[in-house]
Amino acid sequence: MRQRETLARELTTARDRTLRLVDFDDAELHRQYDPLMSPLVWDLAHIGWQEELWLLRGNNPGRPGLLDPAVERCYDAFLNSRASRVDLPLLSPAEARSYCSTVRNKALDSLDALSTDADEFTFGLVISHENQHDETMLQALNLRTGPPLLDRGAPLPPGRPGVAGASVLVPAGEFVLGVDAVTEPHSLDNERCAHVVDVPAFRIGTVPVTNGEWRQFIDDGGYDDQRWWSERGWVHRQEADLRAPQFWNVSGDLAGTRTRFGHIEDIPADEPVQHITFFEAEAYASWAGARLPTEQEWEKACAWDPAVNARRRYPWGASEPTAHLANLGGEALRPAPVGAYPAGASAYGAEQMLGDVWEWTTSALRPWPGFTPMLYEQYSAPFFDGDYKVLRGGSWAVAPSILRPSFRNWDHPIRRQIFSGVRLAWDVA
Ligand SMILES: [Fe+2]
Repeated sequence: MRQRETLARELTTARDRTLRLVDFDDAELHRQYDPLMSPLVWDLAHIGWQEELWLLRGNNPGRPGLLDPAVERCYDAFLNSRASRVDLPLLSPAEARSYCSTVRNKALDSLDALSTDADEFTFGLVISHENQHDETMLQALNLRTGPPLLDRGAPLPPGRPGVAGASVLVPAGEFVLGVDAVTEPHSLDNERCAHVVDVPAFRIGTVPVTNGEWRQFIDDGGYDDQRWWSERGWVHRQEADLRAPQFWNVSGDLAGTRTRFGHIEDIPADEPVQHITFFEAEAYASWAGARLPTEQEWEKACAWDPAVNARRRYPWGASEPTAHLANLGGEALRPAPVGAYPAGASAYGAEQMLGDVWEWTTSALRPWPGFTPMLYEQYSAPFFDGDYKVLRGGSWAVAPSILRPSFRNWDHPIRRQIFSGVRLAWDVA
């Protein structure tokens, strides 16, 4: 069982982060920056509500809680679309902070009584959930118009030349896809069960595609050439008038810059491209003579160690992520340049598999064999038959404590307010 102190520390780290993301005046917290996002004050109280339900009410909404039932309903994500949340009778920021704090104090008390693996899993779920919302709140803040609220972000290590466009070989063979409760007690339902998969040989990008490479796609007319796009992708490209990644300024005085958390800046050529849809990723890959990896390929390149025929806990080995190994945790507010983390390379030599940008794969979200819904039953299962593509590897905004090579994210193929990028793959004859 993970130490109580570790769980308590991770809860506190997540909460400190959340509170920094809502350290704005009340009007700001009630603003809806985009119909795709909730007002920040909704996320705040929702974090507390979910924690109360899972940890203090045994996941039984019939058990009385701290909030009035009519208020409580506002914070059920499945009852209220993101676009509608701004119109709900939400708690004020002061009430939301106080509610979250009350729940947290009771949760920390209950941590002292922690006795079973199931209880420990629930604490892990609460930590994951809060951190996942912190990333969502960063997406919202990035969509905000007006003078910046956040600074430009923490410094990052320099990249190194020669890695953009390079690739590594992953020879054919079986590997273990997914994890289980023994090896990864905090893994979520869709990461389980571990099972053997045979993967034909392929090549995969040493690093994600960069802004500089994406610029060549634009300059070559990639957005105007239907032959690179799937049928659906081309329809969307026209309807949405896609001409560059989101937040790139394409016309007027600002052309050639991007807007990031309200800051207007040059587009760093050696930084992984982000804010692209699945359809754009697919078109870029086609233009580049490549394709997107499958989830299976991605996970093998990230986690498998052919020398010992076993998974590594992280691409680089067993040690916990540090600032020397990956860009995680959200402080940078941007991806690191490619080549910044040679020490974080996987056994096959792929770098920056964790952190920086979520990487689109060609896979739809499907359960692994033996899938069993967890306590949060609606986390994965309702999405298995939907129009979603899986993204892997986490972004710069993901907390290191919740990320694993087996972690699966998914979204509609048209979404790009997320911190999404792409890594290419190639068949090997
Ligand atoms: Fe949630």
